[in-house]
Amino acid sequence: MRENKLGLMLLSIWVLLVFMIGSCLGRFVVEKNSLRVTSPDSLKDTYECAIGNFGVPQYGGTLVGTVAYPKANQKACKGFDELDISFKSKPGSLPTFLLVDRGDCFFTLKAWNAQRGGAAAILVADDKMEPLITMDTPEEENSGAEYLQNISIPSALISKTLGDNIKKALSSGEMVNINLDWREALPHPDERVEYEFWTNSNDECGPKCDSQIDFVKNFKGAAQILEKKGYTQFTPHYITWYCPEAFILSRQCKSQCINHGRYCAPDPEQDFSRGYDGKDVVIQNLRQACLYKVTNETGKPWLWWDYVTDFAIRCPMKEKKYTKECADQVIQSLGIDLKKIDQCIGDPEANVDNPVLKTEQDEQIGKGSRGDVTILPTLVINNRQYRGKLDKGAVLKAICSGFQETTEPSVCLTEGIETNECLENNGGCWQDKAANVTACKDTFRGRVCECPAVRGVKFVGDGYTHCEASAAQRCEINNGGCWSKTQDGKTHSACVDNSKGCKCPQGFKGDGVTTCEDVDECKDKLACQCSQCKCKNTWGSYDCSCSGNLLYMHEHDTCITGKDSKTTVSWNFIWVIILGLAMTGVGGYAIYKYRIRRYMDSEIRAIMAQYMPLDNQAESANHIQHAEI
Ligand SMILES: *[C@@H]1O[C@H](CO)[C@@H](O)[C@H](O)[C@H]1NC(C)=O
Ligand SMILES: *[C@@H]1O[C@H](CO)[C@@H](O)[C@H](O)[C@H]1NC(C)=O
Ligand SMILES: *[C@@H]1O[C@H](CO)[C@@H](O)[C@H](O)[C@H]1NC(C)=O
Repeated sequence: MRENKLGLMLLSIWVLLVFMIGSCLGRFVVEKNSLRVTSPDSLKDTYECAIGNFGVPQYGGTLVGTVAYPKANQKACKGFDELDISFKSKPGSLPTFLLVDRGDCFFTLKAWNAQRGGAAAILVADDKMEPLITMDTPEEENSGAEYLQNISIPSALISKTLGDNIKKALSSGEMVNINLDWREALPHPDERVEYEFWTNSNDECGPKCDSQIDFVKNFKGAAQILEKKGYTQFTPHYITWYCPEAFILSRQCKSQCINHGRYCAPDPEQDFSRGYDGKDVVIQNLRQACLYKVTNETGKPWLWWDYVTDFAIRCPMKEKKYTKECADQVIQSLGIDLKKIDQCIGDPEANVDNPVLKTEQDEQIGKGSRGDVTILPTLVINNRQYRGKLDKGAVLKAICSGFQETTEPSVCLTEGIETNECLENNGGCWQDKAANVTACKDTFRGRVCECPAVRGVKFVGDGYTHCEASAAQRCEINNGGCWSKTQDGKTHSACVDNSKGCKCPQGFKGDGVTTCEDVDECKDKLACQCSQCKCKNTWGSYDCSCSGNLLYMHEHDTCITGKDSKTTVSWNFIWVIILGLAMTGVGGYAIYKYRIRRYMDSEIRAIMAQYMPLDNQAESANHIQHAEI
């Protein structure tokens, strides 16, 4: 126990050291844009300013404004609405650039307050003489991550000297006009932009991880179009550390590293005893790097974007699905050769270099104009680190500004693009070919897998491996995948709403999906078996009749004689009446004839009078029968 604690302490010191060495020796390059003061004359010049790591810099563009320095709240740590101050420019006037002092609160809070106060940009004046630094977002989790995502104005840090000079000019009543220029912020040498995204498959690191995966999801559509048309060359990258020689056999390095301490990542929960280990993160990162390598070799590097989004959706840590099995399912649903990926990953336990991760470690070190990559996520465009928030529109603007002028692809000029990704392999989404129903949807954000609603029937499921029509209407679509047939105007179906599966209807047998066969009730002796019965098979049923004047009772599968049945009684009664009627008719006719031939005498009249009541009776019987029909 004590040994473990000591090991943990030593390891923490090592991690701290690696970080410190990283930040002291690493070259973190401050990305700059230029700031041109156009008035007053005394300050006219072009100055450098450092682009903040939040907000939305106008890559490729310029912004003209007039500077304001607040009389109160000069560090902008409080909202300006509390002080009843607004910097909103009136129609026709120049936008306001708010100048504030460094100190007392986060840069991001200053920018947020300036934006809410109506400023178009924020200039933060340094409080000491030093080279320009990059204003970054706070690392703390509870530092107001919610408003961070909403900062949309550009921000710039300016030197103390420039800040002091602007304040002096303003206090003497001069108007200070500034032109912020981002056109040279990124090199734009040719008609292809190379960019790198340094990322991580860990999805449980709070707001940073969330904004990272949100960016990948949102940017996917544009990234894939740019890549497919050859406008860009994108490469994903992953940071790893190595375990110092002395700790290779420690429990900590064993749980955080693969390949004998060569490639390590911090434990996702910072707790060695629960959840996933650093090792799991390294392996998933390696899988993503390998997926890029394999798909790049087959000429489809853009599949990385699909894999990474799908993996994040389908295999999250909190559902305990951050596993090889889950990853393999995603890979297979995208139609990528799993064997090649496994080959590239190799054996994580082996004491050998992994060529892919070795290259990644070499790439971490800065070259040329690009500094070392030490923070995640980092976007590098044309070998310069991107500054500003990871937002689809902002990044697209930055990439677009990396093209030589007039060679920009049309996606840079419009946003109305379709991806047609569902045409290939159905985008890796669920589909029912027979019913012509798919969960794949083309959107500007690239394809998404979502169970559809078809002809008013809602499908439910994960969109990747299954979707199911909601129970109450399931037979509406493709008859619920069940057998159904129409013959001689009659339809029989093996689908029943609100019940699962397929079941042949009565009178049929089979699996209910592909076949249901008519049961021959006569041959199989299932019905109509009494000695007086005559059986005739029909489709889905049978006809049974009885010999003589017997009646067939379907429910009891038997023939019955008339006496036993109420129906026969009433029929007999009707027969008597009809007979009576016929006799009356015949009698009437005979009497008529008789009357014509001979004169009717009183006797005959008396007989007639005897018949009259019968006649009346027949009429009323006739009436009852009519009502019954
Ligand atoms: C940020 O913007 C979103 C959507 O535009 C909004 O719903 C949210 O309330 C905003 N957050 C803050 C802190 O203003
Ligand atoms: C990806 O493929 C392109 C073209 O085949 C190649 O130039 C590039 O070096 C490859 N990238 C990686 C990282 O393998
Ligand atoms: C499937 O449906 C789509 C639109 O819903 C239609 O364009 C296509 O022609 C259909 N295909 C078949 C084979 O019915």
